Amino acid sequence: MENETSQIIGESGNVKEFKIVQPLLFEEKMGKKVGLELNKTYLGNCMELAKKLSDNSIDLIVTSPPYADTVSYGNGVEVMNPDNYVDWFLPLFHEAKRFLKGSGSFILNINDRANNGERHIYVYELITRIVKETGLKLFDRYIWFKKSALPMTGEKRLNDRIEYIFHFVKDTKKFKTNTDAVREPYEEISLKRFKSKVHGNDIVKNDGTTELSQRGSSKPHPLGKKPITVFRFDTGSALRGLKHPAPYHPQLPEWFIKWLTDEGDIVLDPFMGGGTTAEAALKLKRKYIGFEINPEYIKMTEDRIKKVL
Ligand SMILES: C[S@@+](CC[C@H](N)C(=O)[O-])C[C@H]1O[C@@H](n2cnc3c(N)ncnc32)[C@H](O)[C@@H]1O
Repeated sequence: MENETSQIIGESGNVKEFKIVQPLLFEEKMGKKVGLELNKTYLGNCMELAKKLSDNSIDLIVTSPPYADTVSYGNGVEVMNPDNYVDWFLPLFHEAKRFLKGSGSFILNINDRANNGERHIYVYELITRIVKETGLKLFDRYIWFKKSALPMTGEKRLNDRIEYIFHFVKDTKKFKTNTDAVREPYEEISLKRFKSKVHGNDIVKNDGTTELSQRGSSKPHPLGKKPITVFRFDTGSALRGLKHPAPYHPQLPEWFIKWLTDEGDIVLDPFMGGGTTAEAALKLKRKYIGFEINPEYIKMTEDRIKKVL
């Protein structure tokens, strides 16, 4: 769309080419620099739809794809086999390397499961191949500690209460963060230690409380402490009334949108599901683009965001 041209036939019958000049408002609505209209979820396979996005156009991708061998999403969407998963998914990361801005980030929430007594290693294969084959860099990995989860069956396996969150960037130096937007209150005990002039940063103990290490700043930051790499987001099952089989909780996209984007930035969710990312983006005054293969879920997203708009 960037170099769109059209033809006009003059009175003499000569064919002239001219550039279509779009008024600014139309250009903004169409997300001309993005390639797709903003604040919309598109029906189709994200692997194909991703090709329509312009180079260096997206500020943040935050998503939770179908995990392998788990939920059926209806509408003929196949349940992913863990053995084919990486080959299926990798093309999206090649595209992301192209359409993500240098200042942008890609947040991937994913999980694996045990099958026939062994935990499948497709997530580890995926991360390895993303880093080795697409040029995206793995900035960090976080743990989502689920406040509630179903108990595991079987004698030996412990109750599984975590999911992975991987943070990819195009450029480890240029990607942006707004850490002040996600600072958290200090523990009472930490504030006391600051007052008693023991220098330190928070360290988290086994029981989840924090204390100060002997190194670091002597004053608490006025906006609070830096968050740690373990998140305690609620699970999507807490979203009563949403008829999607596997939504994440808005806390997850909201947190990363606050940390990694500014107002007006563009957030993409290539597996939009019931619209949690769209809702979070709009609430935080960002714009969104979504892809979703099941039309029922697109309707769900539209109904949901009407309440925000
Ligand atoms: C884990 S769910 C995402 C849930 C979403 N985060 C929410 O909170 O509602 C994954 C979604 O991806 C969709 N999906 C599966 N394969 C897809 C594909 N190739 N392209 C686009 N969407 C796809 C499924 O229909 C499902 O709604």
